[in-house]
Amino acid sequence: MNNQLLLDNLRCIPDWPIDGVNFRDVTTLFKSPEALKEIADEMCDFYTNKGITKIVGIESRGFVMSSAVAVKLGAGIVLCRKPGKLPCKTVQESYAKEYGIDTIEIHEDAINENDVILLHDDLLATGGTMLAACNLVKKFHPKKIYCNFIIELNSEFPKSRELFDKDIEITSLL
Ligand code: PRP
Ligand code: ADE
Repeated sequence: MNNQLLLDNLRCIPDWPIDGVNFRDVTTLFKSPEALKEIADEMCDFYTNKGITKIVGIESRGFVMSSAVAVKLGAGIVLCRKPGKLPCKTVQESYAKEYGIDTIEIHEDAINENDVILLHDDLLATGGTMLAACNLVKKFHPKKIYCNFIIELNSEFPKSRELFDKDIEITSLL
């Protein structure tokens, strides 16, 4: 795993979108062909042979790698979206995040009990978003849930992993 390649391509913006937040901008990772490939390859290494049937990508920066990795793993993709974007009946969950309150939703027919789910987002900060996504996915009673992030801000939010049930396996690249 080439951590330095990813770190070299990650841009940080102090005090954005509000004072006190050091924003990790993954768009600079995504625009580098080498960094993009490194992320996709590393995620596939983590999850090959885990029987993943669907990757649930969290809007919006979670969609990017979900797509690339789903193709490589032979899995489908489920979009976990902000409210009002999905056309059919949804299941919802609300949560607090580092800078505000939000709601996410998934189509009610998107996941079934035979699925092995990989939830993916670009970044773990407070954990509010991913915890809400896990709680949402649990309502569908899949066989197993894995969680992955490109970046985990564990020096700023050291307790975020403790929010998750022990049977949910979590990995991150940085
Ligand atoms: C960001 C990020 C994660 C979430 C992490 O998304 O992409 O989804 O915040 O924060 P948390 O661990 O404190 O919940 P944002 O809400 O900014 O949405 P976006 O991806 O659509 O820009
Ligand atoms: N989402 C929540 N906190 C964030 C941060 N510090 N950088 C990028 N995305 C975020």
